[in-house]
Amino acid sequence: MSNKGQILAVDDTPANLQVIGETLRNAGYTVATAIDGERALKRLQRYQPDLVLLDIQMPGIDGFETCRRLKAAPNTQHIPVIFITALSDTINKVKGLQIGGVDYITKPFDCAELLARIQVHINLKKAQLQLIQESKLSTLGELVAGIAHEVNNPINFIYGNLKHAAQYHQDMLHLLELYENQYPDPPQAITDWREQIDLAFLKKDYFALLESMKTGTERIKGIVVSLRSFSKLDESEWKTSDIHEDLNNTLTLLSYRLQANSYRERIKIDKNYGELPLIYCNPAQLNQVFMNLLVNALEAIDAKYWHEQDNVKDNLEPPQLIISTAIEMRNGEKFIGIHIQDNGVGIPEEIQPRIFEQFFTTKSTGKGTGLGLAIAHQIVTEKHGGAIACRSELGTGTEFIIFLPL
Ligand SMILES: Nc1ncnc2c1ncn2[C@@H]1O[C@H](COP(=O)(O)OP(=O)(O)OP(=O)(O)O)[C@@H](O)[C@H]1O
Ligand SMILES: [Mg+2]
Repeated sequence: MSNKGQILAVDDTPANLQVIGETLRNAGYTVATAIDGERALKRLQRYQPDLVLLDIQMPGIDGFETCRRLKAAPNTQHIPVIFITALSDTINKVKGLQIGGVDYITKPFDCAELLARIQVHINLKKAQLQLIQESKLSTLGELVAGIAHEVNNPINFIYGNLKHAAQYHQDMLHLLELYENQYPDPPQAITDWREQIDLAFLKKDYFALLESMKTGTERIKGIVVSLRSFSKLDESEWKTSDIHEDLNNTLTLLSYRLQANSYRERIKIDKNYGELPLIYCNPAQLNQVFMNLLVNALEAIDAKYWHEQDNVKDNLEPPQLIISTAIEMRNGEKFIGIHIQDNGVGIPEEIQPRIFEQFFTTKSTGKGTGLGLAIAHQIVTEKHGGAIACRSELGTGTEFIIFLPL
């Protein structure tokens, strides 16, 4: 199958549909057809092409009305529509463009012109996604690098001073011991105070307390390092990189979402990392891919546990993410395979073909933009020459596989 783009052609004359279909298929597009506006809209509920070619004069609702409805529905409004019609007067052309068409071609059409115009609009749509992706990436990158920088300094004061605090305390304890040895019978007020503060406990607990402060600051320092390498702002874009390090950094940033909560236990992470060479890639972009896939997986797990009743939950397997990597053969070539598998809600079979589409989401408005997988797809396939695939079973879980060329 070609990947030049998918087009839905709508025309009530079968002969026209046939000519258009043949022209487009020969040029490398995948084509679906509909013989009137209502059927086209119905089709669009389940299938999202890159572009719609729309006749205007049709029985039932005409092309203008079809376009109006398509532009009014949130899940189809971003699909570009080109009118293709025998109505050649300016009033109709203007009307078509006003209600949201991106172009207007009159019949009889010239094949080369039709193909050229279609390609322009498909390219425009791709460029739009790329712009969104780049602006999302750079704002996120800048934000993350900024926070990392701001947190880094104060945490270093604390970390650096903990060493001195321990040393000073040790010195004071030593002084206290000297006093105790030299003056074994102190006045009553001193004995009372020593009992009141439970000196023996205080001596021991003070070190435990410093130790836990040290562990805490070390954890924060780890997060700062992950944030910096996640944004990779201080490094050149394309370089050789360790995929495992990148995966681990992204997981560190998400660790707050793994914690146990009121409706499920802690999400377990299983890592089956194979032997991988360093690969030449754009780590900031790949981190974005890992982040998008991991967030989806966590959301799918949360969705599963959130809905289930307590008595059902006891029979569910514990929430789990499995991340595995290996060198794998694909179509006779060696690739790095990265598998991200969750045991969340799974994806219904009928929507699986649509998940990589831009703006396709099953999450409520405001929660999902439907761009996560579209961006991941673009980064993996177009930027890195790899591939991304998905296997899923409703109720059992989902596995995404990224293939990166060596
Ligand atoms: N691991 C998964 N398990 C179940 N469903 C998934 C999983 N990953 C993706 N999906 C489905 O694919 C849809 C599209 O995912 P995508 O990441 O592109 O958008 P989103 O998560 O809805 O929004 P966002 O732009 O915030 O990422 C999701 O709405 C969801 O229905
Ligand atoms: Mg997502």
